[in-house]
Amino acid sequence: PQAAPESPALTESGTTSSRDGAAVLTEARRRRSFAVISHPDAGKSTLTEALALHAKAIREAGRADGKAGGKRTVSDWMDMEQARGISITSASLQFTYRDAVINLVDTPGHADFSEDTYRVLSAVDAAVMLVDAAKGLEVQTMKLFAVCKHRGIPLITVINKWDRPGKDALELMDEIQERTGLVPTPLTWPVGIGGDFRGVLDRRTGEYTRFTRTAGGTTIAPEEHMGPEAALEREGDAWTTAVEEAELLEASGADHDLDSFLGGETTPVLFGSAVQNFGVHALLDVLVDVAPSPTPRETVAGDTRPVEAPFSAFVFKMQAGMDTAHRDRLAFARICSGVFERGMVVTSARTGRPFATKYAQQVFGRERTVVDEAFPGDVVGLVNAANLRVGDTLYLDKPVEYPALPTFAPEHFAVMRAKDVSRYKQFQRGVMQLGAEGVVQVLRSDLRGDQAPVLAAVGPMQFEVAEHRMATEFNAPVTLDRLPYEIALRTTQEWVSTLDAQLGVEVLQREDGELLALFPDRWRVTSVRNRLPDAVLEPLVAT
Ligand code: G4P
Repeated sequence: PQAAPESPALTESGTTSSRDGAAVLTEARRRRSFAVISHPDAGKSTLTEALALHAKAIREAGRADGKAGGKRTVSDWMDMEQARGISITSASLQFTYRDAVINLVDTPGHADFSEDTYRVLSAVDAAVMLVDAAKGLEVQTMKLFAVCKHRGIPLITVINKWDRPGKDALELMDEIQERTGLVPTPLTWPVGIGGDFRGVLDRRTGEYTRFTRTAGGTTIAPEEHMGPEAALEREGDAWTTAVEEAELLEASGADHDLDSFLGGETTPVLFGSAVQNFGVHALLDVLVDVAPSPTPRETVAGDTRPVEAPFSAFVFKMQAGMDTAHRDRLAFARICSGVFERGMVVTSARTGRPFATKYAQQVFGRERTVVDEAFPGDVVGLVNAANLRVGDTLYLDKPVEYPALPTFAPEHFAVMRAKDVSRYKQFQRGVMQLGAEGVVQVLRSDLRGDQAPVLAAVGPMQFEVAEHRMATEFNAPVTLDRLPYEIALRTTQEWVSTLDAQLGVEVLQREDGELLALFPDRWRVTSVRNRLPDAVLEPLVAT
Protein backbone atom coordinates (compact mmCIF):
# COMPACT_ATOMS: atom_id res chain seq x y z
CA PRO A 1 0.00 0.00 0.00
CA GLN A 2 1.05 3.54 -0.77
CA ALA A 3 1.99 5.73 2.20
CA ALA A 4 -0.23 8.75 2.62
CA PRO A 5 1.62 11.84 1.33
CA GLU A 6 1.09 13.71 4.59
CA SER A 7 2.61 10.87 6.62
CA PRO A 8 6.33 11.57 6.74
CA ALA A 9 7.49 8.52 8.78
CA LEU A 10 9.93 6.07 7.31
CA THR A 11 7.30 4.27 5.31
CA GLU A 12 7.51 1.81 2.51
CA SER A 13 8.22 4.74 0.25
CA GLY A 14 11.40 5.40 2.25
CA THR A 15 10.95 8.91 3.65
CA THR A 16 11.86 9.79 7.24
CA SER A 17 9.99 11.37 10.11
CA SER A 18 9.72 15.13 10.28
CA ARG A 19 9.32 15.23 14.07
CA ASP A 20 12.48 16.49 15.66
CA GLY A 21 13.86 15.41 19.02
CA ALA A 22 12.54 18.46 20.82
CA ALA A 23 8.98 17.79 19.68
CA VAL A 24 9.23 14.16 20.80
CA LEU A 25 10.62 15.22 24.16
CA THR A 26 7.73 17.64 24.66
CA GLU A 27 5.23 14.89 23.92
CA ALA A 28 7.06 12.39 26.14
CA ARG A 29 7.00 14.82 29.05
CA ARG A 30 3.21 15.04 28.81
CA ARG A 31 2.88 11.25 29.16
CA ARG A 32 1.95 9.44 32.35
CA SER A 33 1.82 5.68 31.91
CA PHE A 34 0.68 3.61 34.83
CA ALA A 35 -0.99 0.38 35.88
CA VAL A 36 -3.19 -0.42 38.84
CA ILE A 37 -1.99 -3.22 41.07
CA SER A 38 -4.45 -4.78 43.47
CA HIS A 39 -5.97 -7.96 44.77
CA PRO A 40 -9.11 -9.18 42.95
CA ASP A 41 -12.21 -7.33 44.18
CA ALA A 42 -10.38 -4.30 45.54
CA GLY A 43 -12.16 -2.22 42.88
CA LYS A 44 -9.73 -2.00 39.96
CA SER A 45 -12.40 -2.25 37.25
CA THR A 46 -14.55 0.25 39.10
CA LEU A 47 -11.64 2.67 39.44
CA THR A 48 -10.77 2.25 35.76
CA GLU A 49 -14.31 3.15 34.80
CA ALA A 50 -14.26 6.09 37.16
CA LEU A 51 -10.99 7.38 35.69
CA ALA A 52 -12.35 7.09 32.20
CA LEU A 53 -15.47 8.91 33.31
CA HIS A 54 -13.53 11.71 34.87
CA ALA A 55 -11.42 12.07 31.81
CA LYS A 56 -14.61 12.21 29.83
CA ALA A 57 -13.28 9.45 27.63
CA ILE A 58 -16.47 7.58 28.25
CA ARG A 59 -19.73 9.37 28.89
CA GLU A 60 -21.27 6.92 31.24
CA ALA A 61 -19.47 4.70 33.71
CA GLY A 62 -20.00 1.02 33.12
CA ARG A 63 -19.01 0.81 29.52
CA ALA A 64 -15.26 0.57 29.91
CA ASP A 65 -15.19 -3.17 30.43
CA GLY A 66 -18.50 -3.92 28.82
CA LYS A 67 -19.95 -5.10 32.14
CA ALA A 68 -23.02 -2.94 31.78
CA GLY A 69 -23.71 -3.46 28.11
CA GLY A 70 -22.54 -1.15 25.38
CA LYS A 71 -20.89 -1.95 22.07
CA ARG A 72 -19.01 -5.21 21.89
CA THR A 73 -17.01 -7.18 19.44
CA VAL A 74 -17.97 -10.58 20.66
CA SER A 75 -15.81 -13.58 19.94
CA ASP A 76 -15.72 -17.06 21.40
CA TRP A 77 -12.70 -15.97 23.31
CA MET A 78 -14.62 -13.13 24.83
CA ASP A 79 -17.56 -15.41 25.56
CA MET A 80 -15.35 -17.36 27.86
CA GLU A 81 -14.20 -14.21 29.53
CA GLN A 82 -17.73 -13.00 29.98
CA ALA A 83 -18.99 -16.32 31.25
CA ARG A 84 -16.35 -16.29 33.92
CA GLY A 85 -16.77 -12.62 34.66
CA ILE A 86 -13.05 -12.04 34.75
CA SER A 87 -10.74 -10.04 32.63
CA ILE A 88 -8.43 -12.25 30.58
CA THR A 89 -7.24 -9.73 28.07
CA SER A 90 -5.43 -6.56 28.75
CA ALA A 91 -4.58 -3.46 26.82
CA SER A 92 -4.55 0.21 27.52
CA LEU A 93 -6.81 3.18 27.93
CA GLN A 94 -5.53 6.56 26.84
CA PHE A 95 -7.04 9.90 27.71
CA THR A 96 -6.00 13.47 28.24
CA TYR A 97 -6.37 15.22 31.54
CA ARG A 98 -5.30 18.83 31.98
CA ASP A 99 -2.38 18.99 29.58
CA ALA A 100 -1.25 15.42 30.20
CA VAL A 101 -1.78 12.29 28.15
CA ILE A 102 -2.54 9.47 30.53
CA ASN A 103 -2.05 5.82 29.60
CA LEU A 104 -3.68 3.35 31.92
CA VAL A 105 -2.26 -0.02 31.01
CA ASP A 106 -4.86 -2.52 32.09
CA THR A 107 -3.86 -5.59 34.03
CA PRO A 108 -5.86 -8.78 34.26
CA GLY A 109 -7.44 -9.09 37.67
CA HIS A 110 -7.54 -12.79 38.23
CA ALA A 111 -4.73 -14.39 40.20
CA ASP A 112 -4.26 -16.99 37.50
CA PHE A 113 -3.13 -14.43 35.03
CA SER A 114 -0.52 -12.86 37.18
CA GLU A 115 2.28 -13.62 34.73
CA ASP A 116 0.62 -11.30 32.26
CA THR A 117 0.29 -8.69 34.95
CA TYR A 118 3.99 -8.91 35.75
CA ARG A 119 4.82 -8.24 32.12
CA VAL A 120 2.51 -5.24 32.02
CA LEU A 121 4.55 -3.72 34.82
CA SER A 122 7.53 -3.53 32.49
CA ALA A 123 5.51 -1.20 30.26
CA VAL A 124 4.64 1.46 32.84
CA ASP A 125 6.47 4.27 34.60
CA ALA A 126 4.37 4.26 37.78
CA ALA A 127 1.79 2.12 39.53
CA VAL A 128 -1.27 2.77 41.65
CA MET A 129 -1.62 0.34 44.52
CA LEU A 130 -5.33 0.01 45.18
CA VAL A 131 -6.17 -1.20 48.66
CA ASP A 132 -9.54 -2.27 50.03
CA ALA A 133 -9.94 -0.26 53.26
CA ALA A 134 -11.45 -3.22 55.06
CA LYS A 135 -8.92 -5.81 53.92
CA GLY A 136 -5.65 -3.92 53.86
CA LEU A 137 -2.73 -5.36 51.87
CA GLU A 138 -3.74 -8.68 50.36
CA VAL A 139 -1.70 -11.51 48.84
CA GLN A 140 -1.70 -10.52 45.19
CA THR A 141 -1.12 -6.88 45.98
CA MET A 142 2.00 -7.87 47.87
CA LYS A 143 3.26 -10.04 45.01
CA LEU A 144 2.80 -7.23 42.54
CA PHE A 145 4.28 -4.75 44.95
CA ALA A 146 7.42 -6.91 45.06
CA VAL A 147 7.73 -6.65 41.27
CA CYS A 148 7.29 -2.86 41.38
CA LYS A 149 9.92 -2.60 44.06
CA HIS A 150 12.32 -4.82 42.12
CA ARG A 151 11.88 -2.71 39.00
CA GLY A 152 12.00 0.59 40.88
CA ILE A 153 8.49 1.64 39.84
CA PRO A 154 7.21 4.54 41.99
CA LEU A 155 3.95 3.72 43.74
CA ILE A 156 0.90 5.83 44.56
CA THR A 157 -1.45 4.24 47.11
CA VAL A 158 -5.22 4.61 46.98
CA ILE A 159 -7.26 3.41 49.93
CA ASN A 160 -10.56 2.42 48.33
CA LYS A 161 -14.06 1.72 49.63
CA TRP A 162 -13.91 4.33 52.38
CA ASP A 163 -17.70 4.55 52.03
CA ARG A 164 -17.83 1.20 53.82
CA PRO A 165 -16.76 0.28 57.34
CA GLY A 166 -13.10 -0.69 57.33
CA LYS A 167 -9.85 -0.44 59.19
CA ASP A 168 -8.73 2.68 60.99
CA ALA A 169 -6.86 5.11 58.70
CA LEU A 170 -3.77 5.40 60.94
CA GLU A 171 -3.69 1.62 61.33
CA LEU A 172 -3.68 1.27 57.56
CA MET A 173 -0.69 3.63 57.36
CA ASP A 174 1.17 1.43 59.87
CA GLU A 175 0.32 -1.66 57.86
CA ILE A 176 1.66 -0.12 54.65
CA GLN A 177 4.88 0.91 56.33
CA GLU A 178 5.43 -2.44 58.02
CA ARG A 179 4.61 -4.65 55.05
CA THR A 180 6.08 -2.65 52.17
CA GLY A 181 8.85 -0.75 53.89
CA LEU A 182 7.57 2.40 52.14
CA VAL A 183 6.79 5.44 54.25
CA PRO A 184 3.18 6.42 53.50
CA THR A 185 2.85 10.15 52.89
CA PRO A 186 -0.89 10.87 52.72
CA LEU A 187 -1.83 13.75 50.45
CA THR A 188 -5.45 13.61 51.52
CA TRP A 189 -6.87 12.45 54.81
CA PRO A 190 -10.43 11.17 55.27
CA VAL A 191 -13.03 13.20 57.12
CA GLY A 192 -15.35 10.66 58.70
CA ILE A 193 -14.46 7.07 59.52
CA GLY A 194 -14.87 4.23 57.02
CA GLY A 195 -18.58 3.94 56.32
CA ASP A 196 -19.16 7.64 57.08
CA PHE A 197 -17.12 9.18 54.29
CA ARG A 198 -17.78 12.90 54.10
CA GLY A 199 -14.77 14.13 52.19
CA VAL A 200 -11.06 14.66 52.51
CA LEU A 201 -8.70 17.12 54.09
CA ASP A 202 -6.06 18.19 51.62
CA ARG A 203 -2.87 18.01 53.69
CA ARG A 204 -0.99 20.39 51.42
CA THR A 205 -3.50 23.24 51.56
CA GLY A 206 -5.47 22.46 54.74
CA GLU A 207 -8.67 22.81 52.70
CA TYR A 208 -11.67 20.54 52.79
CA THR A 209 -13.11 18.79 49.76
CA ARG A 210 -16.60 17.57 50.44
CA PHE A 211 -18.16 14.92 48.27
CA THR A 212 -21.71 14.50 47.20
CA ARG A 213 -23.12 11.12 46.34
CA THR A 214 -24.53 10.55 42.89
CA ALA A 215 -26.98 7.87 41.86
CA GLY A 216 -24.96 4.67 41.46
CA GLY A 217 -21.76 6.65 40.95
CA THR A 218 -22.44 6.92 37.23
CA THR A 219 -21.71 10.60 36.91
CA ILE A 220 -18.85 12.71 38.17
CA ALA A 221 -19.36 13.33 41.89
CA PRO A 222 -19.70 17.06 42.49
CA GLU A 223 -17.09 18.38 44.91
CA GLU A 224 -17.40 21.34 47.22
CA HIS A 225 -14.23 23.09 48.33
CA MET A 226 -14.08 25.08 51.54
CA GLY A 227 -11.66 26.44 54.13
CA PRO A 228 -11.07 24.99 57.61
CA GLU A 229 -13.64 27.20 59.39
CA ALA A 230 -16.45 26.30 57.04
CA ALA A 231 -15.38 22.65 57.26
CA LEU A 232 -15.53 22.69 61.05
CA GLU A 233 -18.95 24.23 60.96
CA ARG A 234 -20.14 21.66 58.48
CA GLU A 235 -18.61 18.47 59.84
CA GLY A 236 -17.93 19.22 63.52
CA ASP A 237 -16.06 16.41 65.31
CA ALA A 238 -15.30 14.49 62.14
CA TRP A 239 -13.31 17.51 60.90
CA THR A 240 -11.55 18.02 64.24
CA THR A 241 -10.46 14.37 64.30
CA ALA A 242 -9.14 14.58 60.75
CA VAL A 243 -7.14 17.70 61.62
CA GLU A 244 -5.69 16.06 64.73
CA GLU A 245 -4.69 12.96 62.83
CA ALA A 246 -3.14 15.06 60.09
CA GLU A 247 -1.06 16.81 62.75
CA LEU A 248 0.12 13.43 64.05
CA LEU A 249 1.23 12.54 60.53
CA GLU A 250 3.09 15.80 60.17
CA ALA A 251 4.87 15.24 63.48
CA SER A 252 6.01 11.81 62.31
CA GLY A 253 7.45 13.24 59.08
CA ALA A 254 4.89 11.61 56.78
CA ASP A 255 4.96 14.46 54.27
CA HIS A 256 5.20 13.98 50.56
CA ASP A 257 8.60 14.51 49.02
CA LEU A 258 9.08 14.08 45.27
CA ASP A 259 12.60 12.65 45.33
CA SER A 260 11.87 10.00 47.93
CA PHE A 261 8.70 9.04 46.06
CA LEU A 262 10.58 8.66 42.77
CA GLY A 263 13.35 6.85 44.61
CA GLY A 264 10.91 4.24 45.92
CA GLU A 265 11.18 5.18 49.58
CA THR A 266 7.76 6.74 50.10
CA THR A 267 4.28 6.39 48.67
CA PRO A 268 1.75 9.22 48.47
CA VAL A 269 -1.63 8.06 49.78
CA LEU A 270 -5.13 9.09 48.76
CA PHE A 271 -8.48 8.05 50.18
CA GLY A 272 -11.48 7.41 48.02
CA SER A 273 -14.47 5.42 46.94
CA ALA A 274 -14.23 4.29 43.36
CA VAL A 275 -17.84 3.20 43.23
CA GLN A 276 -18.97 6.68 44.28
CA ASN A 277 -16.32 8.40 42.16
CA PHE A 278 -14.87 9.96 45.30
CA GLY A 279 -11.22 10.93 45.15
CA VAL A 280 -10.75 10.06 41.52
CA HIS A 281 -10.14 13.65 40.58
CA ALA A 282 -7.41 13.86 43.22
CA LEU A 283 -5.77 10.74 41.82
CA LEU A 284 -5.67 12.23 38.33
CA ASP A 285 -4.10 15.40 39.70
CA VAL A 286 -1.48 13.41 41.58
CA LEU A 287 -0.65 11.41 38.46
CA VAL A 288 -0.14 14.60 36.49
CA ASP A 289 1.70 16.47 39.25
CA VAL A 290 4.03 13.83 40.68
CA ALA A 291 4.10 10.65 38.56
CA PRO A 292 7.13 10.42 36.27
CA SER A 293 7.05 10.75 32.52
CA PRO A 294 9.02 8.24 30.39
CA THR A 295 12.74 8.18 31.05
CA PRO A 296 15.63 6.79 28.96
CA ARG A 297 15.45 3.02 28.93
CA GLU A 298 18.34 0.66 29.57
CA THR A 299 19.41 -1.48 26.64
CA VAL A 300 21.05 -4.90 26.39
CA ALA A 301 24.28 -3.13 25.47
CA GLY A 302 24.30 -1.53 28.92
CA ASP A 303 23.65 2.06 27.88
CA THR A 304 20.36 3.93 27.75
CA ARG A 305 18.31 5.12 24.81
CA PRO A 306 17.04 8.69 25.23
CA VAL A 307 13.31 9.21 24.68
CA GLU A 308 14.03 11.60 21.82
CA ALA A 309 16.14 9.03 19.93
CA PRO A 310 14.62 7.42 16.81
CA PHE A 311 11.59 5.17 17.33
CA SER A 312 11.95 2.08 19.51
CA ALA A 313 9.45 -0.05 21.41
CA PHE A 314 9.12 -3.45 22.97
CA VAL A 315 6.33 -5.99 22.79
CA PHE A 316 5.00 -6.77 26.24
CA LYS A 317 1.88 -8.64 25.29
CA MET A 318 0.51 -10.70 22.41
CA GLN A 319 -3.14 -11.32 21.94
CA ALA A 320 -5.08 -13.29 19.42
CA GLY A 321 -8.64 -14.03 18.52
CA MET A 322 -10.07 -10.81 19.87
CA ASP A 323 -12.16 -10.49 16.82
CA THR A 324 -13.24 -13.74 15.18
CA ALA A 325 -14.07 -11.95 11.96
CA HIS A 326 -10.44 -10.99 11.48
CA ARG A 327 -8.50 -13.74 13.25
CA ASP A 328 -5.80 -11.26 13.92
CA ARG A 329 -2.82 -11.26 16.20
CA LEU A 330 -2.17 -8.11 18.07
CA ALA A 331 1.20 -7.29 19.52
CA PHE A 332 1.01 -4.65 22.23
CA ALA A 333 4.12 -2.53 22.21
CA ARG A 334 5.21 0.15 24.62
CA ILE A 335 7.00 2.99 22.89
CA CYS A 336 10.33 3.81 24.52
CA SER A 337 11.74 6.44 22.19
CA GLY A 338 10.87 8.50 19.17
CA VAL A 339 7.63 8.88 17.33
CA PHE A 340 5.50 6.10 15.97
CA GLU A 341 3.70 6.88 12.76
CA ARG A 342 1.22 4.66 11.03
CA GLY A 343 2.72 2.88 8.07
CA MET A 344 6.25 2.91 9.44
CA VAL A 345 8.42 -0.07 8.61
CA VAL A 346 10.34 -1.06 11.71
CA THR A 347 12.89 -3.78 12.39
CA SER A 348 12.57 -6.59 14.90
CA ALA A 349 15.82 -6.84 16.86
CA ARG A 350 15.43 -10.59 17.39
CA THR A 351 15.00 -11.58 13.76
CA GLY A 352 16.50 -8.57 12.01
CA ARG A 353 13.46 -8.66 9.76
CA PRO A 354 11.26 -5.70 8.81
CA PHE A 355 7.76 -5.36 10.18
CA ALA A 356 5.29 -3.11 8.39
CA THR A 357 2.95 -1.38 10.81
CA LYS A 358 0.15 -0.94 8.34
CA TYR A 359 -2.41 -0.51 11.02
CA ALA A 360 -1.89 0.25 14.64
CA GLN A 361 -4.66 0.42 17.13
CA GLN A 362 -5.43 1.45 20.59
CA VAL A 363 -7.38 -1.25 22.27
CA PHE A 364 -9.28 -1.07 25.46
CA GLY A 365 -11.74 -3.78 26.32
CA ARG A 366 -13.64 -4.19 23.11
CA GLU A 367 -13.11 -0.73 21.78
CA ARG A 368 -10.48 -0.10 19.15
CA THR A 369 -9.34 3.09 17.53
CA VAL A 370 -6.74 3.55 14.84
CA VAL A 371 -3.53 5.24 15.90
CA ASP A 372 -1.80 7.60 13.50
CA GLU A 373 0.90 8.83 15.80
CA ALA A 374 2.19 7.79 19.20
CA PHE A 375 4.99 8.82 21.54
CA PRO A 376 7.15 7.42 24.33
CA GLY A 377 4.95 6.02 27.10
CA ASP A 378 2.11 5.16 24.71
CA VAL A 379 0.95 1.64 23.96
CA VAL A 380 0.03 0.61 20.44
CA GLY A 381 -1.58 -2.61 19.27
CA LEU A 382 0.13 -3.78 16.09
CA VAL A 383 -2.02 -5.94 13.86
CA ASN A 384 -0.93 -8.94 11.78
CA ALA A 385 1.88 -9.51 14.23
CA ALA A 386 2.16 -13.28 13.81
CA ASN A 387 5.95 -13.07 13.60
CA LEU A 388 6.45 -11.03 16.73
CA ARG A 389 6.95 -12.46 20.20
CA VAL A 390 6.59 -11.19 23.71
CA GLY A 391 9.79 -9.37 24.62
CA ASP A 392 10.74 -8.35 21.06
CA THR A 393 12.32 -4.96 20.53
CA LEU A 394 11.28 -2.94 17.47
CA TYR A 395 13.25 -0.04 16.15
CA LEU A 396 13.63 2.45 13.35
CA ASP A 397 17.00 3.61 11.96
CA LYS A 398 19.25 3.12 14.96
CA PRO A 399 19.38 -0.52 16.16
CA VAL A 400 18.63 -1.20 19.80
CA GLU A 401 17.58 -4.14 21.94
CA TYR A 402 15.91 -3.95 25.34
CA PRO A 403 16.44 -6.63 27.97
CA ALA A 404 14.17 -9.68 27.83
CA LEU A 405 10.99 -9.56 29.86
CA PRO A 406 10.98 -11.63 33.00
CA THR A 407 9.53 -15.11 32.82
CA PHE A 408 8.18 -16.59 36.01
CA ALA A 409 8.54 -19.97 37.57
CA PRO A 410 5.60 -22.10 36.43
CA GLU A 411 3.76 -24.09 39.07
CA HIS A 412 1.31 -26.04 36.92
CA PHE A 413 2.10 -28.55 34.20
CA ALA A 414 0.05 -30.54 31.71
CA VAL A 415 0.67 -32.70 28.64
CA MET A 416 -1.20 -31.59 25.55
CA ARG A 417 -2.15 -33.99 22.73
CA ALA A 418 -4.20 -33.51 19.56
CA LYS A 419 -7.49 -35.39 19.75
CA ASP A 420 -7.32 -35.97 16.03
CA VAL A 421 -3.81 -36.94 14.89
CA SER A 422 -4.57 -35.94 11.31
CA ARG A 423 -4.68 -32.34 12.48
CA TYR A 424 -1.04 -32.44 13.51
CA LYS A 425 -0.04 -29.37 11.47
CA GLN A 426 -2.76 -27.21 13.02
CA PHE A 427 -1.78 -28.59 16.41
CA GLN A 428 1.87 -27.59 15.97
CA ARG A 429 0.94 -24.14 14.73
CA GLY A 430 -1.31 -23.59 17.75
CA VAL A 431 1.33 -24.76 20.21
CA MET A 432 3.88 -22.45 18.66
CA GLN A 433 1.55 -19.47 18.76
CA LEU A 434 0.48 -19.98 22.38
CA GLY A 435 4.14 -20.19 23.34
CA ALA A 436 5.00 -17.02 21.41
CA GLU A 437 2.21 -15.13 23.09
CA GLY A 438 3.36 -16.26 26.49
CA VAL A 439 -0.05 -17.79 27.28
CA VAL A 440 1.83 -20.89 28.40
CA GLN A 441 5.44 -21.95 28.36
CA VAL A 442 6.06 -24.92 26.06
CA LEU A 443 8.43 -27.62 27.31
CA ARG A 444 9.70 -30.59 25.36
CA SER A 445 11.91 -33.63 25.70
CA ASP A 446 13.08 -36.38 23.35
CA LEU A 447 11.27 -38.85 25.52
CA ARG A 448 7.89 -37.19 25.16
CA GLY A 449 8.32 -36.20 21.53
CA ASP A 450 6.73 -33.40 19.53
CA GLN A 451 3.26 -34.94 19.64
CA ALA A 452 2.97 -34.44 23.38
CA PRO A 453 4.52 -31.18 24.53
CA VAL A 454 4.24 -30.19 28.17
CA LEU A 455 2.56 -26.87 28.88
CA ALA A 456 3.69 -24.95 31.93
CA ALA A 457 1.80 -22.08 33.50
CA VAL A 458 1.78 -19.83 36.52
CA GLY A 459 -1.96 -20.38 37.00
CA PRO A 460 -4.10 -23.37 35.93
CA MET A 461 -6.67 -21.24 34.13
CA GLN A 462 -4.12 -20.64 31.41
CA PHE A 463 -4.60 -24.31 30.43
CA GLU A 464 -8.29 -23.72 29.89
CA VAL A 465 -7.50 -20.76 27.70
CA ALA A 466 -5.01 -22.87 25.73
CA GLU A 467 -7.47 -25.75 25.32
CA HIS A 468 -10.26 -23.42 24.21
CA ARG A 469 -8.11 -21.62 21.69
CA MET A 470 -6.66 -24.81 20.22
CA ALA A 471 -10.17 -25.98 19.41
CA THR A 472 -11.77 -22.73 18.24
CA GLU A 473 -8.90 -20.85 16.70
CA PHE A 474 -6.53 -23.52 15.39
CA ASN A 475 -9.12 -26.17 14.65
CA ALA A 476 -7.16 -28.73 16.61
CA PRO A 477 -9.11 -29.96 19.64
CA VAL A 478 -6.79 -31.27 22.33
CA THR A 479 -6.73 -33.25 25.53
CA LEU A 480 -4.80 -32.04 28.52
CA ASP A 481 -3.49 -34.30 31.22
CA ARG A 482 -2.22 -32.66 34.35
CA LEU A 483 1.20 -33.72 35.58
CA PRO A 484 1.94 -34.02 39.29
CA TYR A 485 4.72 -31.40 39.33
CA GLU A 486 4.67 -28.15 41.23
CA ILE A 487 8.21 -26.89 41.24
CA ALA A 488 10.53 -26.06 38.34
CA LEU A 489 14.24 -25.45 38.87
CA ARG A 490 16.86 -24.53 36.31
CA THR A 491 19.56 -27.07 35.62
CA THR A 492 22.36 -27.64 33.09
CA GLN A 493 22.92 -30.18 30.30
CA GLU A 494 25.47 -32.26 32.25
CA TRP A 495 22.85 -33.02 34.94
CA VAL A 496 19.96 -33.95 32.68
CA SER A 497 20.40 -37.73 32.67
CA THR A 498 21.24 -37.97 36.37
CA LEU A 499 18.21 -35.91 37.36
CA ASP A 500 15.94 -37.74 34.92
CA ALA A 501 16.90 -40.96 36.67
CA GLN A 502 15.63 -39.70 40.03
CA LEU A 503 12.24 -40.96 41.10
CA GLY A 504 9.46 -38.46 40.38
CA VAL A 505 11.77 -35.98 38.64
CA GLU A 506 11.77 -35.05 34.95
CA VAL A 507 13.88 -32.63 32.94
CA LEU A 508 12.38 -30.73 30.03
CA GLN A 509 13.62 -28.00 27.73
CA ARG A 510 11.81 -24.71 27.42
CA GLU A 511 11.63 -22.89 24.09
CA ASP A 512 14.21 -20.34 25.18
CA GLY A 513 16.65 -23.23 25.68
CA GLU A 514 16.41 -23.25 29.46
CA LEU A 515 16.48 -26.74 31.02
CA LEU A 516 13.87 -27.16 33.73
CA ALA A 517 13.90 -29.95 36.29
CA LEU A 518 10.35 -30.58 37.52
CA PHE A 519 9.60 -31.82 41.02
CA PRO A 520 6.31 -32.85 42.65
CA ASP A 521 6.99 -30.98 45.89
CA ARG A 522 9.72 -29.37 47.97
CA TRP A 523 10.38 -32.60 49.90
CA ARG A 524 11.54 -34.22 46.69
CA VAL A 525 13.74 -31.21 45.95
CA THR A 526 15.38 -31.55 49.36
CA SER A 527 15.93 -35.27 49.01
CA VAL A 528 17.49 -34.93 45.54
CA ARG A 529 19.68 -32.08 46.77
CA ASN A 530 20.88 -34.25 49.64
CA ARG A 531 21.65 -37.13 47.32
CA LEU A 532 23.27 -34.95 44.63
CA PRO A 533 24.81 -32.03 46.50
CA ASP A 534 26.67 -30.80 43.39
CA ALA A 535 23.68 -30.83 41.06
CA VAL A 536 22.81 -27.48 39.47
CA LEU A 537 19.28 -26.67 40.68
CA GLU A 538 18.59 -22.98 40.71
CA PRO A 539 15.37 -21.08 41.24
CA LEU A 540 13.86 -19.48 38.15
CA VAL A 541 13.82 -15.92 39.32
CA ALA A 542 12.33 -12.96 37.59
CA THR A 543 14.88 -10.51 36.29
P1 G4P B 1 -11.67 -5.72 40.74
O1 G4P B 1 -11.72 -5.22 39.35
O2 G4P B 1 -10.55 -5.19 41.53
O3 G4P B 1 -11.79 -7.20 40.88
O4 G4P B 1 -12.95 -5.15 41.51
P2 G4P B 1 -14.28 -4.51 40.96
O5 G4P B 1 -14.05 -3.17 40.43
O6 G4P B 1 -14.99 -5.49 40.10
O7 G4P B 1 -15.04 -4.33 42.34
C1 G4P B 1 -15.34 -5.44 43.17
C2 G4P B 1 -16.57 -5.12 43.98
O8 G4P B 1 -16.30 -4.02 44.87
C3 G4P B 1 -17.75 -4.69 43.15
O9 G4P B 1 -18.92 -5.13 43.80
C4 G4P B 1 -17.68 -3.19 43.21
O10 G4P B 1 -18.92 -2.57 42.99
C5 G4P B 1 -17.21 -2.99 44.64
N1 G4P B 1 -16.54 -1.70 44.83
C6 G4P B 1 -15.54 -1.16 44.11
N2 G4P B 1 -15.17 0.02 44.60
C7 G4P B 1 -15.95 0.24 45.67
C8 G4P B 1 -16.06 1.31 46.61
O11 G4P B 1 -15.35 2.29 46.56
N3 G4P B 1 -16.99 1.16 47.60
C9 G4P B 1 -17.80 0.07 47.69
N4 G4P B 1 -18.68 0.04 48.67
N5 G4P B 1 -17.73 -0.94 46.81
C10 G4P B 1 -16.82 -0.86 45.83
P3 G4P B 1 -19.71 -6.41 43.35
O12 G4P B 1 -20.83 -6.54 44.29
O13 G4P B 1 -18.77 -7.56 43.21
O14 G4P B 1 -20.16 -6.06 41.93
P4 G4P B 1 -21.29 -5.05 41.47
O15 G4P B 1 -22.55 -5.75 41.83
O16 G4P B 1 -21.12 -3.76 42.19
O17 G4P B 1 -21.07 -4.93 40.00
